[in-house]
Amino acid sequence: IGRIGVLTSGGDAPGMNASLRAVVLAAKHHSIDVVAFRHGYEGLLNDDWQHMNESDVLHILQYSGTIIKSARSERFREADAPAAAAQVLDKHQIDALIVIGGDGSFRGAGHLGSVWQKPIVGIPGTIDNDLYGTDATIGYATAVETAMDALDKIRDTAEAMDRVFIVEVMGRHAGFIGLSSAMAAGAERMILPELQKQKPLTVEALVKHIENVQKVRGDSSYVMVLSENQWPGGAVRLAEQLEDRLHLPCRPCLLGHIQRGGRPTASDRILATRIGVHAVNLVMAGANQVMAGIIADQPVATPLADTWQQRKGLSEEMIQIQQTLFNPVKRTAPTS
Ligand code: F6P
Repeated sequence: IGRIGVLTSGGDAPGMNASLRAVVLAAKHHSIDVVAFRHGYEGLLNDDWQHMNESDVLHILQYSGTIIKSARSERFREADAPAAAAQVLDKHQIDALIVIGGDGSFRGAGHLGSVWQKPIVGIPGTIDNDLYGTDATIGYATAVETAMDALDKIRDTAEAMDRVFIVEVMGRHAGFIGLSSAMAAGAERMILPELQKQKPLTVEALVKHIENVQKVRGDSSYVMVLSENQWPGGAVRLAEQLEDRLHLPCRPCLLGHIQRGGRPTASDRILATRIGVHAVNLVMAGANQVMAGIIADQPVATPLADTWQQRKGLSEEMIQIQQTLFNPVKRTAPTS
């Protein structure tokens, strides 16, 4: 392997820069050239590229975003896109490609692989943590930290005014951010895709739960974490529906893209560094169409197709804990 290409694609995630840095430094260590394609697959189609040297990646691991830019490329879904991209890769004498992104980016890698048969290795970069083949994706820990910080702040005001809050978090179709931030911040309720699939929550059941919690605790706040796409009209609509029934102020709060920024946590920087180096090792070993990941603290490789076709489940134990702790039962006063 004389030269590898690298790109970041799809929604950016904290730690993408750290993984890019690791790829460049590991490749240089083995005297491999690195060429970055800017704006993900769009850059590949547009022949928008730059050489990457050690100096380009110095001191970038503490910043979120991606210095080589990202994009969601609609064009790359088209049937003739892989051939056009392969031409660009061959023109630059690229021997292997590293794709940093989420499931959409890995599907793109599969699409490209139908024409370009050289090694393609994925690095899991998404806040959603919805990829099979790694315990955590790069960016997930930071997003949870950000959501937890926001929930703590919401709690301050909610508790001061005995209010109900519905805080909407990202995660696309997975409840990882929802579950972890709810547990970390002690939210009274969480509405997650995985739970909604089992038994969709009704406004009536929610109202009953809020009333029960308030009966047991007296004046108090109630903070709920709502995963995106899990309620028609989202947090704003749910707050209106609850206000109508409870006759209490209920406030929505949408965390949105705040969850994609900020300083990557130490764990994300370390994960990104380990997976970045692992990806270069896989490329050098000739692996193709696999994702570099870490499971039980060990570097592993998983076929790219499995990363989105197989489902990584939420922790049942965490769900149980959350549901038990916030199902208060009114205790009767001891008789003796
Ligand atoms: O996949 C990362 C993610 O932030 C999801 O959590 C969210 O649903 C989506 O991207 C938002 O995408 P965009 O930035 O294109 O609006």
